[in-house]
Amino acid sequence: MLSVENIAVRYRGVTVLQDISLTLAAGRTLAVVGESGAGKSTLIGTILGLVRCSAGQVTWNKAPVRRCRPALVMQEPRSAFNPRVSLRRSVTEPLIAERRPVDENQMAALCRSLDIPTDLLERRPSAVSIGQAQRIGILRALIAAPPLVLFDEPLSALDAVTQKHTARMIADLQAKEGFAALIVTHDLGYAAAYADHIAVLRAGRIEELTTAQAFIDAPQTAYGRELRDAAFALGALERVA
Ligand SMILES: Nc1ncnc2c1ncn2[C@@H]1O[C@H](COP(=O)(O)OP(=O)(O)O)[C@@H](O)[C@H]1O
Ligand SMILES: [Mg+2]
Repeated sequence: MLSVENIAVRYRGVTVLQDISLTLAAGRTLAVVGESGAGKSTLIGTILGLVRCSAGQVTWNKAPVRRCRPALVMQEPRSAFNPRVSLRRSVTEPLIAERRPVDENQMAALCRSLDIPTDLLERRPSAVSIGQAQRIGILRALIAAPPLVLFDEPLSALDAVTQKHTARMIADLQAKEGFAALIVTHDLGYAAAYADHIAVLRAGRIEELTTAQAFIDAPQTAYGRELRDAAFALGALERVA
C-alpha cells in the first residue's frame, strides 16, 4: 500500500503542497484531479523521492517508496525518451538498471496488449506518432513489473480517439498485471470512469477524497461541485451518469 502522510513542499518559501495525506491499496486506482498549477506533478515528484518534502513521509508497505521501484508515465511522450537511442534501448533501460535479462515473451505480450508493432521499437522517438510514443512509454513503465505506476496526465497530449483507446489499454493492463495506479489528470470524465477513488487537489491542498461514485453523486465542497458540474456540461461524465 502507498501511504502519503501529511506531506508539505515549499519552493523558495512558497508553499506548493500542504498537509497532503492519501493511501492507495495494491492493485487499485486513485485519480488526483486538479487544475494546472495545483501541485499534481509535484505530488508525483514527492512520491518518487525526486522532490524533497519539508514535512511528512511517503511509504510503500511501510518502506521507502523507491525500494518498490515505482514507474512513471509522463505527460509528453516523445520527450520522455532519449532522442539519440532506439526506443528498444529506452524501454529496456529499467531492466538493464537492475541487471535483469529482457524476457522476450513478456515483451511481446506487452507489445500485443499495447498495440505496438515490435519493429517500431527499432526507431528513434521522433519517428513514431505521439500516440505510439505514449504506448511505448507505458511499455517501458511496465517492463519490470512494478507494483506501483504513477501516471502524470497520461492522456493529455493525445487526440480524443487515442485517449479513449489508451485509457482502455491502461485499465486492461492493470487488471492483468495488478499494479496500483496513481493517475494525475485534469479530466474528471477519465477519473470517474476508471478510478476507485478521486482526490481533488486545489492550490496544493486536498479539498476532498472519496470514492469516484460518491464524488460524482455528491461532491462535498463547492469546488468539487464546480468541477463535477463543468464536466457534466461538457458531456465528459455521460459514461458514468
Ligand atoms: N521547480 C520548481 N521551482 C519553483 N516552483 C515550482 C517548481 N515546480 C513547480 N513549481 C510551482 O509549483 C506549483 C505546482 O506545480 P505543478 O506541481 O507542476 O502543478 P500541476 O502539475 O498541477 O500543473 C506551481 O505554482 C508551479 O509554478
Ligand atoms: Mg503537471
